[in-house]
Amino acid sequence: MASVSVTNVRKSYGHFEVLHGVNIDIEDGEFVILVGPSGCGKSTLLRMIAGLEEISGGDVAIGGRVVNDVEPKSRDIAMVFQSYALYPHMTVEANMGFSLRLAKAPKEEIRQRVRGAAQILGLENLLDRYPRNLSGGQRQRVAMGRAIVRQPQVFLFDEPLSNLDAKLRVQMRSEIKQLHQRLRTTTIYVTHDQIEAMTMADRIVVMRDGYVEQIGSPLELYDRPANLFVAGFIGSPGMNLIRGKISSTGPLEFVADGGAHLPLPEGLHVTRGVEIIYGIRPENISIEKDGIGAEVVVVEPTGAETLIVAGIGSDQLVLALRERVVSGAGDVISVKPDIDKLHLFDGTTGRRL
Ligand SMILES: Nc1ncnc2c1ncn2[C@@H]1O[C@H](COP(=O)(O)OP(=O)(O)OP(=O)(O)O)[C@@H](O)[C@H]1O
Ligand SMILES: [Mg+2]
Repeated sequence: MASVSVTNVRKSYGHFEVLHGVNIDIEDGEFVILVGPSGCGKSTLLRMIAGLEEISGGDVAIGGRVVNDVEPKSRDIAMVFQSYALYPHMTVEANMGFSLRLAKAPKEEIRQRVRGAAQILGLENLLDRYPRNLSGGQRQRVAMGRAIVRQPQVFLFDEPLSNLDAKLRVQMRSEIKQLHQRLRTTTIYVTHDQIEAMTMADRIVVMRDGYVEQIGSPLELYDRPANLFVAGFIGSPGMNLIRGKISSTGPLEFVADGGAHLPLPEGLHVTRGVEIIYGIRPENISIEKDGIGAEVVVVEPTGAETLIVAGIGSDQLVLALRERVVSGAGDVISVKPDIDKLHLFDGTTGRRL
């Protein structure tokens, strides 16, 4: 196992720079997820760590050794891709042992390592099967098995679950997490799915347009997003983000551009009249008698909770309520944001206040 550090790493294709100086320090044994919208540079960064892309600037170090000029096969990493491309003419056992055979490992050692990995992944009974006779989830497990048998210092995953259906993704997510808890191999995992990131990672790196927006544990990002982008990206349903101003006169409150007045905590240090974004998560709004009048637009019962979309002024709020609600479109309800759970952002820079 090994630490991985990415220091001021840049990547350009011709004149087009896609990574603009990325810094990430990953501890030995950590499970770090790179998350961000399509095209933000996640795969490019992972491929640079793997040695599959040249580094235009900065350093990548694995276990304290700078590997910029080290061949991929000498970096002691194993990568699992979205398209896991198993060899169709080889059995599961042969697929899993392939890299070890290539490295001319002794037959008995290959057999043992493959058996070991198969046991970890619950593939013992499938070793003689061919890939075409496996389900999608089983194939994905074989692809992971190929990586595990190599006992690398670092696992790199690039969207390994995106070919699977929703239910299987949830199951595999948990299996990968359990696998990491068992092997404790340093893991860097790319996804654009923030739920995958939240549920699996020790730490999440949120990327956008070739920049790192924030690095933190899932709950750090959820509770204290550094800026508007992270606030909107992490959490489902997303945080309510309402544009407006701090009241210029009278009681200190938030005046939305859409007309609604919303409460602010007492003693808040903000300049009167300044433009801000008022952020409140759906579960931090409740229905209370002394709240603000809101008109129900849509009610979405999910079973465990009820989502309500409600209009305040010309803005809309989403509420997530644990209790079952008997109201319908057109009803007027009284809603109250929990002012201890507010997220306020600068209206110009988007930075957290
Ligand atoms: N070989 C290449 N030549 C030129 N531009 C490239 C090349 N490979 C990637 N890019 C560009 O680099 C940027 C980052 O691409 P990358 O594949 O890393 O994104 P990503 O975050 O993995 O996105 P996705 O979630 O869609 O997989 C994109 O703008 C992409 O068009
Ligand atoms: Mg990608």
